[in-house]
Amino acid sequence: MAHPTLAVVTGGAGFIGSHTVDKLIAAGHRVVVLDNFSTGKRANLAQHAQSDRLTIVECDVGHGIFAALAPVTAKYGPVERIVHLAAQVSVVSSVANPMTDMQINYGGTLHVLEYARASGVKKVVFASSAAVYGEVTTLPVAEDIHLQPMSPYGIDKLSSEYALDYYANVHGVPTTALRFFNVYGPRQDPTSPYSGVISIFSDRAKAGRPLLIFGDGGQTRDFVFVGDVVRAIVSALGDGNSRLIANVGTGQEISVKELARTIVELCGNKSPIQHAPARAGEILKSRARVDRLRDQLGVVAETKLVDGLRATLA
Ligand SMILES: NC(=O)c1ccc[n+]([C@@H]2O[C@H](COP(=O)([O-])OP(=O)(O)OC[C@H]3O[C@@H](n4cnc5c(N)ncnc54)[C@H](O)[C@@H]3O)[C@@H](O)[C@H]2O)c1
Repeated sequence: MAHPTLAVVTGGAGFIGSHTVDKLIAAGHRVVVLDNFSTGKRANLAQHAQSDRLTIVECDVGHGIFAALAPVTAKYGPVERIVHLAAQVSVVSSVANPMTDMQINYGGTLHVLEYARASGVKKVVFASSAAVYGEVTTLPVAEDIHLQPMSPYGIDKLSSEYALDYYANVHGVPTTALRFFNVYGPRQDPTSPYSGVISIFSDRAKAGRPLLIFGDGGQTRDFVFVGDVVRAIVSALGDGNSRLIANVGTGQEISVKELARTIVELCGNKSPIQHAPARAGEILKSRARVDRLRDQLGVVAETKLVDGLRATLA
Protein backbone atom coordinates (compact mmCIF):
# COMPACT_ATOMS: atom_id res chain seq x y z
CA MET A 1 0.00 0.00 0.00
CA ALA A 2 2.12 2.83 -1.25
CA HIS A 3 -0.36 5.69 -0.81
CA PRO A 4 -2.23 6.51 2.41
CA THR A 5 -5.39 4.50 2.64
CA LEU A 6 -8.48 4.31 4.85
CA ALA A 7 -8.35 1.00 6.70
CA VAL A 8 -10.86 -0.48 9.13
CA VAL A 9 -9.42 -2.73 11.85
CA THR A 10 -12.18 -4.74 13.51
CA GLY A 11 -11.07 -5.79 16.99
CA GLY A 12 -8.53 -2.96 16.80
CA ALA A 13 -8.63 -2.33 20.55
CA GLY A 14 -7.43 -5.86 21.29
CA PHE A 15 -3.97 -7.36 21.56
CA ILE A 16 -3.09 -8.02 17.90
CA GLY A 17 -5.45 -5.29 16.69
CA SER A 18 -3.83 -2.46 18.61
CA HIS A 19 -0.35 -3.41 17.33
CA THR A 20 -1.78 -3.48 13.80
CA VAL A 21 -3.20 0.00 14.33
CA ASP A 22 0.21 1.24 15.55
CA LYS A 23 1.89 -0.04 12.41
CA LEU A 24 -0.72 1.34 9.98
CA ILE A 25 -0.75 4.76 11.58
CA ALA A 26 3.05 4.88 11.64
CA ALA A 27 2.99 4.14 7.89
CA GLY A 28 0.74 7.17 7.33
CA HIS A 29 -2.62 5.46 6.86
CA ARG A 30 -5.95 6.58 8.32
CA VAL A 31 -7.41 3.90 10.59
CA VAL A 32 -10.89 3.23 11.88
CA VAL A 33 -11.08 0.85 14.83
CA LEU A 34 -14.41 -0.96 15.00
CA ASP A 35 -14.68 -2.72 18.34
CA ASN A 36 -17.31 -3.52 20.95
CA PHE A 37 -14.69 -3.50 23.76
CA SER A 38 -15.74 -6.91 25.05
CA THR A 39 -12.08 -7.83 25.61
CA GLY A 40 -10.35 -4.88 23.93
CA LYS A 41 -9.32 -1.77 25.85
CA ARG A 42 -9.21 1.93 25.01
CA ALA A 43 -5.90 2.02 26.88
CA ASN A 44 -4.36 -0.11 24.10
CA LEU A 45 -4.92 2.84 21.75
CA ALA A 46 -4.12 5.66 24.19
CA GLN A 47 -0.84 6.39 22.35
CA HIS A 48 -2.94 7.74 19.44
CA ALA A 49 -5.17 9.97 21.55
CA GLN A 50 -3.72 13.10 19.92
CA SER A 51 -3.65 11.65 16.39
CA ASP A 52 -6.22 12.75 13.82
CA ARG A 53 -5.48 9.56 11.88
CA LEU A 54 -7.41 7.31 14.28
CA THR A 55 -11.19 7.09 14.63
CA ILE A 56 -12.73 4.73 17.14
CA VAL A 57 -16.20 3.38 16.40
CA GLU A 58 -17.83 1.38 19.17
CA CYS A 59 -19.91 -1.23 17.41
CA ASP A 60 -20.61 -4.94 17.38
CA VAL A 61 -19.13 -6.40 14.20
CA GLY A 62 -22.27 -8.48 13.75
CA HIS A 63 -24.76 -5.60 13.98
CA GLY A 64 -25.04 -2.31 12.14
CA ILE A 65 -21.56 -1.81 10.73
CA PHE A 66 -22.97 -0.02 7.66
CA ALA A 67 -24.64 2.62 9.82
CA ALA A 68 -21.68 2.85 12.20
CA LEU A 69 -19.17 3.44 9.41
CA ALA A 70 -21.36 5.84 7.39
CA PRO A 71 -20.28 9.03 9.24
CA VAL A 72 -16.62 8.07 8.83
CA THR A 73 -16.88 7.44 5.10
CA ALA A 74 -18.93 10.62 4.68
CA LYS A 75 -15.96 12.50 6.15
CA TYR A 76 -12.96 10.61 4.76
CA GLY A 77 -14.20 8.72 1.69
CA PRO A 78 -14.64 5.00 1.12
CA VAL A 79 -13.03 2.27 3.20
CA GLU A 80 -10.30 0.70 1.08
CA ARG A 81 -8.95 -2.10 3.25
CA ILE A 82 -10.27 -4.13 6.17
CA VAL A 83 -8.34 -6.18 8.74
CA HIS A 84 -10.94 -8.41 10.39
CA LEU A 85 -9.73 -9.46 13.84
CA ALA A 86 -12.86 -9.00 15.99
CA ALA A 87 -13.80 -12.33 17.48
CA GLN A 88 -14.78 -14.32 20.50
CA VAL A 89 -11.28 -15.74 21.03
CA SER A 90 -11.82 -18.47 23.60
CA VAL A 91 -11.88 -22.07 22.42
CA VAL A 92 -13.29 -23.08 25.83
CA SER A 93 -16.17 -20.60 25.53
CA SER A 94 -16.90 -21.80 22.02
CA VAL A 95 -17.38 -25.33 23.36
CA ALA A 96 -19.70 -24.07 26.10
CA ASN A 97 -21.64 -21.68 23.82
CA PRO A 98 -21.31 -22.80 20.20
CA MET A 99 -24.25 -20.69 18.99
CA THR A 100 -22.85 -17.48 20.43
CA ASP A 101 -19.45 -18.30 19.01
CA MET A 102 -20.94 -18.87 15.56
CA GLN A 103 -22.92 -15.63 15.67
CA ILE A 104 -19.90 -13.53 16.62
CA ASN A 105 -17.18 -15.29 14.67
CA TYR A 106 -18.85 -16.59 11.52
CA GLY A 107 -21.71 -14.04 11.56
CA GLY A 108 -19.23 -11.21 12.11
CA THR A 109 -17.16 -12.33 9.13
CA LEU A 110 -20.26 -12.39 6.90
CA HIS A 111 -21.15 -8.85 7.95
CA VAL A 112 -17.65 -7.66 7.15
CA LEU A 113 -17.70 -9.39 3.76
CA GLU A 114 -21.12 -7.98 2.90
CA TYR A 115 -19.83 -4.52 3.75
CA ALA A 116 -16.74 -5.12 1.62
CA ARG A 117 -18.83 -6.31 -1.33
CA ALA A 118 -21.27 -3.42 -1.14
CA SER A 119 -18.56 -0.80 -0.67
CA GLY A 120 -15.97 -2.00 -3.20
CA VAL A 121 -13.31 -2.66 -0.56
CA LYS A 122 -9.97 -3.51 -2.18
CA LYS A 123 -8.77 -6.06 0.38
CA VAL A 124 -10.08 -7.99 3.38
CA VAL A 125 -7.49 -9.72 5.58
CA PHE A 126 -8.94 -12.20 8.05
CA ALA A 127 -7.48 -13.58 11.29
CA SER A 128 -7.93 -17.31 10.99
CA SER A 129 -6.24 -19.75 13.32
CA ALA A 130 -4.21 -22.93 13.59
CA ALA A 131 -7.37 -24.22 15.33
CA VAL A 132 -8.68 -25.12 11.85
CA TYR A 133 -6.21 -28.04 11.75
CA GLY A 134 -7.12 -29.97 14.90
CA GLU A 135 -4.74 -32.77 15.86
CA VAL A 136 -2.15 -33.32 13.13
CA THR A 137 0.26 -36.20 12.60
CA THR A 138 2.73 -34.54 10.21
CA LEU A 139 4.83 -31.55 11.15
CA PRO A 140 5.34 -28.86 10.07
CA VAL A 141 1.63 -28.26 9.43
CA ALA A 142 1.03 -27.35 5.79
CA GLU A 143 -1.99 -25.29 4.72
CA ASP A 144 -3.33 -27.93 2.34
CA ILE A 145 -3.57 -30.90 4.71
CA HIS A 146 -6.90 -32.44 5.66
CA LEU A 147 -8.61 -30.05 8.08
CA GLN A 148 -10.33 -31.41 11.15
CA PRO A 149 -11.13 -28.61 13.61
CA MET A 150 -11.81 -29.87 17.13
CA SER A 151 -13.88 -26.99 18.48
CA PRO A 152 -16.71 -24.70 17.39
CA TYR A 153 -14.08 -21.92 17.37
CA GLY A 154 -12.02 -23.85 14.80
CA ILE A 155 -15.13 -24.64 12.75
CA ASP A 156 -16.11 -20.96 12.67
CA LYS A 157 -12.63 -19.91 11.59
CA LEU A 158 -12.73 -22.50 8.81
CA SER A 159 -16.27 -21.48 7.78
CA SER A 160 -15.07 -17.88 7.64
CA GLU A 161 -12.22 -18.93 5.35
CA TYR A 162 -14.78 -20.56 3.01
CA ALA A 163 -16.86 -17.38 3.10
CA LEU A 164 -13.79 -15.31 2.21
CA ASP A 165 -13.06 -17.56 -0.73
CA TYR A 166 -16.67 -17.39 -1.89
CA TYR A 167 -16.74 -13.58 -1.76
CA ALA A 168 -13.44 -13.42 -3.65
CA ASN A 169 -14.46 -15.96 -6.26
CA VAL A 170 -18.09 -15.01 -6.84
CA HIS A 171 -18.25 -11.33 -5.84
CA GLY A 172 -14.73 -10.24 -6.70
CA VAL A 173 -13.81 -9.06 -3.18
CA PRO A 174 -10.04 -9.61 -2.77
CA THR A 175 -9.40 -11.57 0.44
CA THR A 176 -6.51 -13.20 2.31
CA ALA A 177 -6.83 -15.50 5.32
CA LEU A 178 -3.94 -15.77 7.78
CA ARG A 179 -3.82 -18.76 10.10
CA PHE A 180 -2.15 -17.44 13.23
CA PHE A 181 -0.33 -19.94 15.41
CA ASN A 182 0.36 -18.97 19.08
CA VAL A 183 0.76 -15.22 19.09
CA TYR A 184 2.42 -13.51 22.06
CA GLY A 185 3.78 -10.11 23.02
CA PRO A 186 3.06 -6.96 24.99
CA ARG A 187 -0.61 -6.08 25.71
CA GLN A 188 -1.80 -9.68 25.75
CA ASP A 189 -4.15 -9.80 28.71
CA PRO A 190 -2.73 -12.12 31.41
CA THR A 191 -5.83 -11.81 33.58
CA SER A 192 -8.00 -13.70 31.11
CA PRO A 193 -8.08 -17.46 31.80
CA TYR A 194 -8.17 -17.94 28.02
CA SER A 195 -5.11 -15.85 27.35
CA GLY A 196 -1.98 -17.21 25.78
CA VAL A 197 0.27 -19.29 28.00
CA ILE A 198 3.16 -16.83 27.60
CA SER A 199 1.23 -13.90 29.06
CA ILE A 200 0.03 -16.04 31.98
CA PHE A 201 3.49 -17.51 32.69
CA SER A 202 5.13 -14.08 32.38
CA ASP A 203 2.68 -12.49 34.76
CA ARG A 204 3.20 -15.24 37.34
CA ALA A 205 6.98 -15.43 36.99
CA LYS A 206 7.33 -11.66 37.45
CA ALA A 207 5.41 -11.96 40.73
CA GLY A 208 7.45 -15.03 41.81
CA ARG A 209 4.29 -17.17 41.78
CA PRO A 210 4.17 -20.82 40.62
CA LEU A 211 3.79 -21.65 36.93
CA LEU A 212 1.19 -24.34 36.31
CA ILE A 213 1.68 -26.77 33.43
CA PHE A 214 -1.14 -29.08 32.34
CA GLY A 215 0.31 -32.55 31.73
CA ASP A 216 4.05 -33.24 31.52
CA GLY A 217 4.82 -30.08 29.55
CA GLY A 218 6.03 -32.03 26.54
CA GLN A 219 3.35 -30.44 24.35
CA THR A 220 4.91 -28.06 21.81
CA ARG A 221 3.74 -24.83 20.22
CA ASP A 222 4.89 -22.47 17.51
CA PHE A 223 5.03 -19.13 19.35
CA VAL A 224 5.11 -16.12 17.04
CA PHE A 225 5.80 -12.58 18.19
CA VAL A 226 3.03 -10.06 17.58
CA GLY A 227 5.37 -7.73 15.65
CA ASP A 228 5.96 -10.48 13.09
CA VAL A 229 2.22 -11.19 12.87
CA VAL A 230 1.55 -7.52 12.17
CA ARG A 231 4.11 -7.54 9.35
CA ALA A 232 2.20 -10.46 7.80
CA ILE A 233 -1.11 -8.59 8.16
CA VAL A 234 0.24 -5.42 6.56
CA SER A 235 1.82 -7.36 3.71
CA ALA A 236 -1.46 -9.22 3.06
CA LEU A 237 -3.38 -5.94 3.12
CA GLY A 238 -1.65 -4.80 -0.07
CA ASP A 239 -2.84 -5.67 -3.58
CA GLY A 240 -2.46 -9.25 -4.79
CA ASN A 241 -2.57 -12.57 -2.98
CA SER A 242 -6.35 -12.78 -3.21
CA ARG A 243 -7.72 -16.16 -2.09
CA LEU A 244 -4.42 -16.91 -0.40
CA ILE A 245 -4.49 -18.84 2.87
CA ALA A 246 -1.19 -18.71 4.74
CA ASN A 247 0.10 -19.90 8.09
CA VAL A 248 1.65 -17.26 10.33
CA GLY A 249 4.21 -18.88 12.60
CA THR A 250 7.94 -19.21 12.97
CA GLY A 251 8.36 -22.76 11.70
CA GLN A 252 9.92 -23.63 15.08
CA GLU A 253 8.39 -25.38 18.07
CA ILE A 254 9.20 -25.27 21.77
CA SER A 255 7.80 -27.39 24.58
CA VAL A 256 5.70 -25.74 27.27
CA LYS A 257 8.16 -27.12 29.85
CA GLU A 258 11.11 -25.42 28.15
CA LEU A 259 9.10 -22.24 27.76
CA ALA A 260 8.32 -22.16 31.49
CA ARG A 261 12.00 -22.66 32.36
CA THR A 262 13.08 -19.90 29.96
CA ILE A 263 10.58 -17.41 31.38
CA VAL A 264 11.59 -18.15 34.99
CA GLU A 265 15.25 -17.75 34.00
CA LEU A 266 14.61 -14.42 32.24
CA CYS A 267 12.76 -13.15 35.30
CA GLY A 268 15.73 -14.09 37.45
CA ASN A 269 13.61 -15.40 40.30
CA LYS A 270 12.64 -18.81 41.59
CA SER A 271 9.03 -19.41 40.59
CA PRO A 272 8.33 -23.12 41.05
CA ILE A 273 7.03 -25.06 38.05
CA GLN A 274 4.03 -27.20 38.99
CA HIS A 275 2.00 -29.75 37.05
CA ALA A 276 -1.75 -30.42 36.89
CA PRO A 277 -3.51 -33.26 35.02
CA ALA A 278 -3.42 -32.95 31.22
CA ARG A 279 -6.44 -31.23 29.68
CA ALA A 280 -8.70 -33.41 27.57
CA GLY A 281 -8.48 -32.66 23.87
CA GLU A 282 -5.33 -30.57 24.08
CA ILE A 283 -3.26 -30.71 20.90
CA LEU A 284 0.16 -32.27 21.54
CA LYS A 285 2.40 -30.85 18.83
CA SER A 286 2.19 -27.76 16.70
CA ARG A 287 4.58 -26.15 14.22
CA ALA A 288 3.70 -24.15 11.14
CA ARG A 289 5.00 -24.71 7.66
CA VAL A 290 5.89 -21.17 6.64
CA ASP A 291 6.78 -21.39 2.93
CA ARG A 292 3.68 -19.49 1.81
CA LEU A 293 4.25 -16.76 4.39
CA ARG A 294 7.78 -16.31 3.09
CA ASP A 295 7.20 -16.86 -0.65
CA GLN A 296 3.79 -15.16 -1.14
CA LEU A 297 3.86 -12.46 1.52
CA GLY A 298 7.62 -11.95 1.79
CA VAL A 299 7.54 -12.29 5.58
CA VAL A 300 9.81 -14.33 7.83
CA ALA A 301 8.92 -14.32 11.52
CA GLU A 302 12.40 -13.45 12.68
CA THR A 303 11.94 -12.36 16.32
CA LYS A 304 13.85 -14.83 18.48
CA LEU A 305 11.79 -16.26 21.32
CA VAL A 306 14.06 -14.84 24.04
CA ASP A 307 13.92 -11.37 22.48
CA GLY A 308 10.14 -11.56 22.18
CA LEU A 309 9.90 -12.82 25.75
CA ARG A 310 12.10 -9.95 26.99
CA ALA A 311 9.82 -7.44 25.23
CA THR A 312 6.76 -9.14 26.73
CA LEU A 313 8.20 -9.22 30.25
CA ALA A 314 9.22 -5.56 30.02
N1 LIG B 1 -3.74 -14.46 20.04
C1 LIG B 1 -3.57 -15.58 19.36
O1 LIG B 1 -2.67 -16.39 19.67
C2 LIG B 1 -4.46 -15.90 18.17
C3 LIG B 1 -4.24 -17.11 17.49
C4 LIG B 1 -5.06 -17.41 16.40
C5 LIG B 1 -6.02 -16.52 15.99
N2 LIG B 1 -6.21 -15.35 16.68
C6 LIG B 1 -7.27 -14.45 16.20
O2 LIG B 1 -6.73 -13.12 16.11
C7 LIG B 1 -7.77 -12.19 16.37
C8 LIG B 1 -7.33 -11.20 17.45
O3 LIG B 1 -7.08 -11.91 18.66
P1 LIG B 1 -6.40 -11.26 19.95
O4 LIG B 1 -5.49 -12.28 20.51
O5 LIG B 1 -5.88 -9.92 19.61
O6 LIG B 1 -7.64 -11.18 20.94
P2 LIG B 1 -8.29 -9.92 21.71
O7 LIG B 1 -9.38 -10.49 22.56
O8 LIG B 1 -7.24 -9.11 22.36
O9 LIG B 1 -8.92 -9.08 20.52
C9 LIG B 1 -10.22 -9.30 20.02
C10 LIG B 1 -10.87 -7.93 19.84
O10 LIG B 1 -12.14 -8.11 19.22
C11 LIG B 1 -13.10 -7.32 19.93
N3 LIG B 1 -14.41 -7.97 19.74
C12 LIG B 1 -14.81 -9.17 20.21
N4 LIG B 1 -16.07 -9.43 19.83
C13 LIG B 1 -16.48 -8.37 19.09
C14 LIG B 1 -17.68 -8.05 18.42
N5 LIG B 1 -18.73 -8.87 18.42
N6 LIG B 1 -17.76 -6.87 17.76
C15 LIG B 1 -16.70 -6.01 17.75
N7 LIG B 1 -15.52 -6.27 18.38
C16 LIG B 1 -15.42 -7.44 19.03
C17 LIG B 1 -12.63 -7.33 21.37
O11 LIG B 1 -13.16 -6.28 22.14
C18 LIG B 1 -11.11 -7.21 21.16
O12 LIG B 1 -10.71 -5.87 21.04
C19 LIG B 1 -9.01 -13.00 16.74
O13 LIG B 1 -9.80 -13.14 15.58
C20 LIG B 1 -8.45 -14.33 17.14
O14 LIG B 1 -9.38 -15.37 16.95
C21 LIG B 1 -5.45 -15.02 17.76
